[in-house]
Amino acid sequence: MGELGNLNPILMETTLVLIKPGGVQRNLIGEITRRIEARDLRISGLKLIRAELATVEEHYAEHRERPFFASVCDYLTSGPIVALAVSGTNSVKAIRAMMGATNPLEATPGTVRGDLALTIDDNLVHSSSDPEAAARELALWFPEGTF
Ligand code: CDP
Ligand code: MG
Repeated sequence: MGELGNLNPILMETTLVLIKPGGVQRNLIGEITRRIEARDLRISGLKLIRAELATVEEHYAEHRERPFFASVCDYLTSGPIVALAVSGTNSVKAIRAMMGATNPLEATPGTVRGDLALTIDDNLVHSSSDPEAAARELALWFPEGTF
């Protein structure tokens, strides 16, 4: 196998994206899903839902002790969100890079957060941080499975 193959092994993965209430409210569902599809990633699950507080608390369990935990959970349940399962080669890392840094002020232009968001408490999207998180989050948001 060539050097490139060793550096970039082809990994078929599925990751979770959430379009947070601010993204839905600002009519950015199309813009965000357009970017994902344009990258040649496949949308393998999609739903508009009002999240239960218990689901969001489970989703952000790693942040339970952080000062922003209550506010981020309140925010995620404040209006409808879109849950997306996204499948494709190295989709976890690819999507994470496309969404940009947590703080939109540090997110590179060209990313969703760098182009469309301004504040950390309304950074428009969630995406799974690694394959283990993706598996856990997909089981939580898509217990019925994906396509
Ligand atoms: O979403 P991401 O994985 O990039 O960031 P995180 O560190 O896992 O934090 C989860 C979410 O909590 C962020 O996306 C923000 O919406 C929120 N947060 C916040 O409001 N204030 C912070 N200082 C850190 C995170
Ligand atoms: Mg995170």
